[in-house]
Amino acid sequence: MTTALKSAGRVFSGAQPSGNMHLGNYLGAFRNWARLQDEYESIYCVVDMHAITVWQNPAELQNQIREAAAAYMASGVDPSRSILYNQSKVAGHAELAWIFNCVARLGWLNRMTQFKDKAGKNREKASVGLYIYPNLMAADILLYKATHVPVGADQKQHLELTRDIAQKFNNDYGTDLFPMTEPLIMGEGARVMSLRDGSKKMSKSEPSDMTRINLNDDADTLANKIRKARTDAEPLPGNSGALESRPEATNLVGIYAALMDQDRDSVCAEFEGRGFGDFKKALTEVVVTKLAPITGEMARLQKDPAYIDSVLKDGAERASALAEPILAEIKRAVGYI
Ligand code: TYM
Repeated sequence: MTTALKSAGRVFSGAQPSGNMHLGNYLGAFRNWARLQDEYESIYCVVDMHAITVWQNPAELQNQIREAAAAYMASGVDPSRSILYNQSKVAGHAELAWIFNCVARLGWLNRMTQFKDKAGKNREKASVGLYIYPNLMAADILLYKATHVPVGADQKQHLELTRDIAQKFNNDYGTDLFPMTEPLIMGEGARVMSLRDGSKKMSKSEPSDMTRINLNDDADTLANKIRKARTDAEPLPGNSGALESRPEATNLVGIYAALMDQDRDSVCAEFEGRGFGDFKKALTEVVVTKLAPITGEMARLQKDPAYIDSVLKDGAERASALAEPILAEIKRAVGYI
């Protein structure tokens, strides 16, 4: 990798291999990762250690890890221009997470809304891993002293915690070892919502498949999901300000805008006065056209698991080489001998 030329900084990001990679992952994350990889030194991780904070069937997890890696590559992440690997292959993530478990405060973790959402009413039955998940996420990022983290809007609170941990570590140990990492939350695709409820984000874990557009859905499935997506009876307004209080309409316009690299205002201007029956037909065409090459490439890559495994192995070696001196520096700061 030509590190010297990539002066904008170092990017780290990841996604959980828990199945059902969807349009939210693509627009909020994967597509942006591909766009950043020439400007930034880029490290993209399949976070399998995060995935097991909720139960994963071991035989399926293996395929899900490969599926996630295939989704990254099909979205344009190039393993010769970025580092692509799975988290459990680099032991430094777990080692640094332990140190951060001792830096982060209980009160900080108690404020994490994602834990509250995921644990639900059954908090006592949630794994301890799910609770301390944000400390592992901070470790992922800071193990490489990443300066920028491209994510969807839902990860913002976790990134604020990462900065709090970095700051407290630096203060407690009297060092400036960790950077204050910046989130990169990019464009109209940063918050893709459920097709059935515009107040909920599109998510892998939502039981109904009709709520999301999966990266491996075929054209008929996509058309059916978009046709049945919830909307309202009003036509499209001439500007996006008038979409306020119409969450489902806002979401569909946002998806169209993100896929076409436009903003919501210009989509509204183009479709002003037309009903959602019409707009959904145009949206289907855009979604099918933009996703077909990704779906095809994912399928092609997944037919060759040995290739995916070799990419991950090579990536893990390169990631370890970056992490080792940083971890050694951290251990010295903590006082380990
Ligand atoms: P995960 O696996 O839930 O999602 C992966 C990426 O996709 C983005 N995303 C979305 N963006 C827009 N609209 C949506 N509906 C949507 N759903 C998901 C997420 O914001 C994310 O960028 N905790 C992380 C994984 C992680 C990580 C990290 C990320 C672990 N360590 C270090 C960055 C840096 C997660 O669960 O993402």
